[in-house]
Amino acid sequence: MTTALAPTRSLRIGPIELDAPVVLAPMAGITNTAFRRLCREYGAGLYVSEMITTRALVERNDTTMRLIRHHESETPRSIQLYGVDPATVEAAVRMIVAEDHADHIDLNFGCPVPKVTRRGGGAALPWKLTLFRQIVERAVRAAGDLPLTIKMRKGIDADHLTYLEAGRIAEGAGVASIALHARTASEFYSGHADWSAITKLKETVTSVPVLGNGDIWSAGDAVRMMDETGCDGVVVGRGCLGRPWLFGDLARALGRPGAATGEPVDATLGFVARAFRRHAELLVEFFEDEGRGCRDIRKHVAWYFKGYPVGGELRASLATASTLAEIDDLLATMELDAPYPGEAAEGQRGRAGSPKRPALPDGWLDSREIGDDAGRALADAELHHSGG
Ligand SMILES: Cc1cc2nc3c(=O)[nH]c(=O)nc-3n(C[C@H](O)[C@H](O)[C@H](O)COP(=O)(O)O)c2cc1C
Repeated sequence: MTTALAPTRSLRIGPIELDAPVVLAPMAGITNTAFRRLCREYGAGLYVSEMITTRALVERNDTTMRLIRHHESETPRSIQLYGVDPATVEAAVRMIVAEDHADHIDLNFGCPVPKVTRRGGGAALPWKLTLFRQIVERAVRAAGDLPLTIKMRKGIDADHLTYLEAGRIAEGAGVASIALHARTASEFYSGHADWSAITKLKETVTSVPVLGNGDIWSAGDAVRMMDETGCDGVVVGRGCLGRPWLFGDLARALGRPGAATGEPVDATLGFVARAFRRHAELLVEFFEDEGRGCRDIRKHVAWYFKGYPVGGELRASLATASTLAEIDDLLATMELDAPYPGEAAEGQRGRAGSPKRPALPDGWLDSREIGDDAGRALADAELHHSGG
């Protein structure tokens, strides 16, 4: 009699073998080295940097040079780039390789922000097939042995979908995996991600892993996405805001035995308070500035304590604390043995928003090619980028 082995859902992205098919979604202003380290302490997978604009990188902008740094505990190192000009993207990739800044590079084609799409950047770019192909091909070539991947949305709007063509082009160009946030730019973060698009992409792209993204709020959602769509891995963004331990749950649910480092989480308020404190301390280390780190943790307060018995006054005080000692004093006043509140702590968190008509350059949708005169406006798209 043969015994069926439990599937081990590891994921290979080029030469990188991950113990769990899980990727931390790049999030501007969030997935700095502090947050990536924290998530990694609980789980397994790939933890991608926040988006770096290629122009700022090749110009060696101070903030950008800080953002591409990794802690020595971070391996494999992963950087997401955003660029609209093939030559600049190529130069940025070459620089990362030559100076050994990363083990993996992802390219972002998913930003829905009107001031970016209005200039033809972000999720508007794959509409222009030749430009998209040039960027991806030159980036893959420049990356050499480093795996280069892309992340994109379904398209501009329901009438202008780009993901299947873009997926084929990227596969042909030699990318190591393709991630799809299953919304159009016009949907922004509203409604529900359309996981059936992930199924279609998986049927279309057959030689490299397809990763699904959108609306994974729990490990159960991740299992369901993989089962329903057949995707090879999941990319998790907002679901881990204020819940870095979700990566432990994900590794236990999807990874190889032993992929998660900690015990299953019993998220009492004390447990959450310790994670919050650790996050604050890692931010202080990242910014090399206690005040700056304590200011940056403020945006995470509501996410960490969602559903927990933490009063408005205490939340407000946490959002004004400027030293770790003040944070410690405030956390010590909490009912630390309060149990996990269940439903109240679950579900959607982070950006939501309503659908918007996509802002595009004049005549953008008239053809799938781009005229030379569009080049300058497009380059401006890089200056106004704020994430995906
Ligand atoms: C605050 C924030 C910043 C983001 N920044 C980026 C980014 O820099 N690059 C990117 O490709 N996507 C970015 N995204 C999109 C996420 O990577 C992800 O595709 C999206 O949130 C959907 O996944 P989710 O439902 O798991 O959150 C951002 C999302 C949020 C909420």
